[in-house]
Amino acid sequence: MVDPKYLSKEEINRLIKNPLNEEEIIICRKNHLLTNAREHIIVGSPEPGSIYFKTQDGREILDCTSQAWVLNLGHNNPDISYAVSLQCEQVTHSWSYMLTPIRIRLCNKLAEILPGQLKGGRISVNNSGGGWALECAMRLAMINNKKGEQFIVFRRGYHGSNLIMMGASQRLPMRFPGRGRELWVRTFYPYCYHCPWHYKGGLGGERDKSCNLECLQMVREKIEMFPTGTPIGCIIEPIQGPGGMIPAPVEFLSGLKEICQNNKILLIYDEAQTGFGRTGKMFATEWYNSKYNVDISPDIMTLTKGAGAGVPIGITVAKSKLRQLTEFEEHSTFSSPPLGMAACLVNIEILQKNKIPENAEKQGNKISSFIKDLSEEIPEIGDVRGPGLFIGVEFVQDPETREPNNDLLEKMVHVGWDNGIFFGEQMQIMSTAGYFIQNTLKIKPPLIINDEETEKICELFEKSLKDSIKSLEK
Ligand SMILES: Cc1ncc(COP(=O)(O)O)c(C=O)c1O
Repeated sequence: MVDPKYLSKEEINRLIKNPLNEEEIIICRKNHLLTNAREHIIVGSPEPGSIYFKTQDGREILDCTSQAWVLNLGHNNPDISYAVSLQCEQVTHSWSYMLTPIRIRLCNKLAEILPGQLKGGRISVNNSGGGWALECAMRLAMINNKKGEQFIVFRRGYHGSNLIMMGASQRLPMRFPGRGRELWVRTFYPYCYHCPWHYKGGLGGERDKSCNLECLQMVREKIEMFPTGTPIGCIIEPIQGPGGMIPAPVEFLSGLKEICQNNKILLIYDEAQTGFGRTGKMFATEWYNSKYNVDISPDIMTLTKGAGAGVPIGITVAKSKLRQLTEFEEHSTFSSPPLGMAACLVNIEILQKNKIPENAEKQGNKISSFIKDLSEEIPEIGDVRGPGLFIGVEFVQDPETREPNNDLLEKMVHVGWDNGIFFGEQMQIMSTAGYFIQNTLKIKPPLIINDEETEKICELFEKSLKDSIKSLEK
């Protein structure tokens, strides 16, 4: 590491590394703009690359959220830290239109590993994440498809909280209605466990074998009834994350691709959460392609979160046939972020060399089957969905009615924390009857977990669930 020039190492340590004192914390609580800054303070991890984090009050918590599904290689991964400090010695920032060695290497690498028709495609990066990557995808769709005005989006989808993407997302509470609302037309997502056409066999993210894909017919009809002619694009998470960990059946995705192709609509996959190994393959698109032997790859795809293994980066990729974006159509001050790009390139190398996606598949299967077995004994476990370490456990009041059990989810997250494990929650959805639904627990630890850590997750899941049910019965 280089030696500092203007400050001493001690001065810099004092600002960054020295332990916090109580007074600093009290002052910050007053200064903080966000109300949801939680009571707990994360101060580090027991060791570099750990799946645990340490809190200010001295606890070590097993992280099943990877901090917003980002730290796929664990907290403070040492290879990523090394890559970033090395990159700091090369280029830390440049104009967005300048090429740098790291940008060239990352673009080439991504183009090489992209799935299906995206292989050999074009890449744009940013340092703001998924929302910006999607806006870039929308601009790209707009310049390539000049006749339409709107985008198709799906029920329970989430695509970011910047003012435009908020309209595409079904996040509540919606405090900012109206902005860009005219851009979106929303239709059904194939949520088979709660199929509105009452097919009951849609478990574990698979469709009921007798279903006639009425939800796909809805998409066709929506397009025919489009107020402004054909839509420009269709944005979908192939496996919904925030909305409840819901894989779309492959038949829906291949049908959707066909509808888009037939109607000249650009198909955009949001793989913010599913990219970079979480499903057991590098991308969810690849997972479907290889499991079902069909190519469901889209025209455009967006990525973020696990991409930089903890260093910010958002990525938009497009098949090479599309017209490229000019500087005026896509740029921001930081849209050539060397640190994020260095982290992403090294991340890809680690994932490939160490077969980390395969590990995610193996450990994820163990956790999912453990929970499925437990569901024989615990009727509140309604559905268990994968794939890989993209696990959702939907809690219900009764497995017959499948009525959501919000209380159990809330309790489980609190009890889990007390037991030393941090579980994630789906985002809140407003039901048509006007109440909130939030009943799917997320288990998405770093992808590097080993056998022992997997067993620990299973053990703590069972204990926390049983403790939660007992405490709700009181
Ligand atoms: C599926 C999905 N798309 C888009 C986004 C938005 O990404 P960002 O918060 O980086 O803008 C998220 C973030 O949670 C996401 O989960």
